[in-house]
Parts: sequence; structure tokens; C-alpha cells
Amino acid sequence: MTAPLLSVRGLHGGYGLVQVLRGVDLQVRAGELVLLLGRNGSGRSTLLKALMGLIPATGEVRWAGRDMLPLPTHQRARLGLGYVPEQRDIFPHLSVRQNLRLGAKAAAGAAAAQWDEARVLALFPALIPRLRTSAKVLSGGEQQMLSIARALMGNPQLLLLDEPTEGLAPQRVAATAALLDQLRADGLGLLLVEQKPWAQQLASRVVVLGDGQAQFSGALADLPQNISTPWL
Ligand SMILES: Nc1ncnc2c1ncn2[C@@H]1O[C@H](COP(=O)(O)OP(=O)(O)OP(=O)(O)O)[C@@H](O)[C@H]1O
Ligand SMILES: [Mg+2]
Repeated sequence: MTAPLLSVRGLHGGYGLVQVLRGVDLQVRAGELVLLLGRNGSGRSTLLKALMGLIPATGEVRWAGRDMLPLPTHQRARLGLGYVPEQRDIFPHLSVRQNLRLGAKAAAGAAAAQWDEARVLALFPALIPRLRTSAKVLSGGEQQMLSIARALMGNPQLLLLDEPTEGLAPQRVAATAALLDQLRADGLGLLLVEQKPWAQQLASRVVVLGDGQAQFSGALADLPQNISTPWL
């Protein structure tokens, strides 16, 4: 098996005095879709924020073997870590094209795919007639496309995605599933928070978060009986 791109050990983090993550262990390799499961409030979004450096955390976070924990968010992004947050974090007063350009970064590694505006627009042709439009008037589905497109413009090697199909129409959900499967097949690592069945079908592996820790890592079919799964 290849060495993990992202390797997390004993990660602690939360909000002030509220400790949400209490020793999380997790690994993601290139070309692997790891599905992060857990009940509401179990800390899945918090884990993604801690990995992105958006909230304070302690423990071990390694990127291709290198200690990433001391690095600020923009340096983690430069190393090849991309993030599609739950709120999509579009800049509403900027145009679609300006949002895309804000996401642009050179690829970190020689092997990384080169994404540019033409290539992301080929994936999301619905954004082409909207390029000069203010992002605030986009539909939910268009905002989601823009959020993923902007993350790809950063030439990530690993993408963190927080419930990317929340509130979207079935057609957009299916298109997102197909896209993520293709990105994974092209060698991108994916750490996905998503409770819907399509994600379970795509997952190379699932990690179940509970009591602030990864309680299980493996194939969904091998999930032990003693882990309650009210969310399945
Ligand atoms: N900004 C914040 N300040 C204080 N506590 C927070 C904050 N954000 C989240 N929490 C708390 O941290 C815990 C984990 O929240 P988190 O958002 O990570 O859960 P989640 O697994 O993503 O669930 P869901 O998306 O269903 O809400 C919850 O108890 C939540 O109330
Ligand atoms: Mg969440």
C-alpha cells in the first residue's frame, strides 16, 4: 500500500474549553475516498476545520510525512490540501470568475494535476454563462459547483468536502457523486463528510467518529455491531 498523504494521530481540538476531538487517528492516501461518518454533532466538521488549520488543535498531523500542524491555513493549501466547507464560503459580492481566480494556486508537486479556469469550466459548463455574474445570485446548485471548482483551482492533492450535496436536487447529487468518483480515479485523495447512500457506495473506506475519536476504520460491511449507527 502507498504511504498516506495525510496522517493524523491523537488529534485534539475544539472551541475554547469545549473539546470536541479527543485523540483522532486517521489516514488518507492518494486515489482513496475516505468517508467520515458519525452522528450529528460528533465533530465531523470540526475535524475538517482542524485539518485545515481553521481552529486550534494539538497532536500529530503529517502531510507526506512532514509535520503540518504548525502551518497556517494558506500554507496547508499551498501544500495541496483543498477544502469545500459546509457553508460553501463563496464571496457573494465578487463575480463567479473572481471567485475562481481567488482559488487559483500553482500545483505543489510535480505529479499534481494542473487545473485552470478552462479545465474547471469544462467540468461545470453551467458556470460559463455566469462568469460575470455576482456570486450572490447563484442558485444553491451553482454555488456548490463554484465552491468545488474554486477548490480545484488550487490544484489540490487531497480534498476535504463537508456535506457537498446538502440541500441539492437529485440530479445535482448524482452529478457530484460521478465527479468525485472520477477525481478519485484520477488520483486525488478525498475525505468526505456525507451521510447519504451514494457516498457509502463510492467510499474506499469509512471512518466512524464518536466520543471525539475514530471508533472504526475499514469497510462499511465490517462495521462491528457494538458501534451504534442511528445515522445509517
Ligand atoms: N463555533 C463553535 N463554537 C462552539 N461549539 C461549536 C462550534 N461549532 C461546533 N460546535 C460544537 O462542536 C460539536 C461538534 O460539531 P460539528 O459541527 O463538528 O459536528 P458535525 O459532526 O459536523 O455535525 P453536524 O454537521 O450534523 O452539525 C457540537 O457539539 C457543536 O455544538
Ligand atoms: Mg457538520
